[in-house]
Amino acid sequence: MSKVIKGGTVVTADREWKADVLIEGETITQVGADLKGDEYIDAEGAYVIPGGIDPHTHLEMPFMGTTAAETFETGTWAAAAGGTTMLIDFCLPGEDGSIKNAINEWHRKSAPQICADIGYHMAITGWNENIFDEMKVAVDMGVNSFKHFMAYKGALMVEDDEMFASFQRCRELGALPMVHAENGDLVDLMQKKLLADGMTGPEAHAYSRPPEFEGEAANRAITIADAAGTPLYIVHVSCEQSHEAIRRARQKGMRIYGEPLIQFLTLDESEYFNKDWDHAARRVMSPPFRNKDHQASLWAGLQSGSLQVVATDHAAFSTEQKRLGVDDFTKIPNGSNGVEERLAVLWTEGVETGRLTPSEFVAATSSNVAKILNIYPKKGAIVEGADADIVVWDPKITKTISASNHHSILDYNVFDGFEVKAQSRYTLSRGEVIWAWGQNSQPQPGRGRFVPRPPFSSAAKALSHWKALNSPRSITRDPMNIPAGI
Ligand code: URP
Ligand code: ZN
Ligand code: ZN
Ligand code: ZN
Repeated sequence: MSKVIKGGTVVTADREWKADVLIEGETITQVGADLKGDEYIDAEGAYVIPGGIDPHTHLEMPFMGTTAAETFETGTWAAAAGGTTMLIDFCLPGEDGSIKNAINEWHRKSAPQICADIGYHMAITGWNENIFDEMKVAVDMGVNSFKHFMAYKGALMVEDDEMFASFQRCRELGALPMVHAENGDLVDLMQKKLLADGMTGPEAHAYSRPPEFEGEAANRAITIADAAGTPLYIVHVSCEQSHEAIRRARQKGMRIYGEPLIQFLTLDESEYFNKDWDHAARRVMSPPFRNKDHQASLWAGLQSGSLQVVATDHAAFSTEQKRLGVDDFTKIPNGSNGVEERLAVLWTEGVETGRLTPSEFVAATSSNVAKILNIYPKKGAIVEGADADIVVWDPKITKTISASNHHSILDYNVFDGFEVKAQSRYTLSRGEVIWAWGQNSQPQPGRGRFVPRPPFSSAAKALSHWKALNSPRSITRDPMNIPAGI
């Protein structure tokens, strides 16, 4: 059974043109004019874009004494409704510290539930021989990226020497190191100081994690990556200070990637000063939302190319879970939602305002991260041979975001009240329509697949080669030219 997506404007990261898309089975087999098939999907008046890839989610994540409420089932359903056909979820080691067991545990949880495709990043939360060995196991299992937390002292945080060791291991394995860039020692001290001063509410969360702490950590991680000879991906970039570090490093030729979140582009720190405790606590995440100047910096980064990817860091904790921190802001589970809203909010605030072109929107929502994570053009492209992960993106469907009409399990939505100007008319995952605008039924849980990502992306190979050519070398000297020892 072949399908043709008919009459739309195809948008890829490099161009827009009127074309039909022919799908046979799970794959795109032709892009061109007047294509014929057994079935037609109407794209008249709409854009035809690669399915969104959200490279940063935390579904059912055990964290801060609780477990993120969003399940793999509801999370991928919400994603599909929002035009996202692949998530990369963060896998955390359990009590035994084993990477292999953690990946198997993530498979066990995700496989029966996911309606769209998934991949994982692995967290490196310490350093020992077992972790060194198991990083190779992770790569063999199709996980080619490793996140290091420079914050969450006493829990997930790693030190500089541990990061350097892990980054070097990443270079050997052709894997991509990632960092959560915040100075965890300073955050910890600042939290204690604010609590001692009697500041216990969610507003103190923002004060405890100023942009300087993020910028310092970003610079440090970049220095470590450069010394180790690896590219580096900085997750959830929230401010000018870390953007500036990335921009400067890239300008020097370093392979550094930056990922602002849709929340950081559109929501600001005034949310934490809301008189309603629940309202403020629901928006507590790390790093925190910043002010408008930082937002402007992030938009400029997307426009100029110094920032490449827009993600969500979807880590959904219910209001009841947020209330674990009612007496102490440091106990509010960190995280906010966005997996369903990312494309619509970025389109509305980016493309509809003229800050981004449709192609830049596609680059930021799928193509760039597919390249960085070495799954392009299987994912993130509309080209012959690619997986038919496609969204018929309708710029005429408007919607007011609300917890009453979203698909997330959450009892609130941080984008509540946003008027968005586009929605998915159809979401296709490997050739199957898993979502249509107005659909009430749920996409089939368990139809999604784990997508293994191979190591040694072109950037990793090129940088490793360059580093090898420029590595320290001993000089061979004639003994005549060496002074005698004393
Ligand atoms: O606040 C956040 N970002 N929660 C999720 C964990 C992380 O740091 O990515
Ligand atoms: Zn330290
Ligand atoms: Zn993080
Ligand atoms: Zn995260």
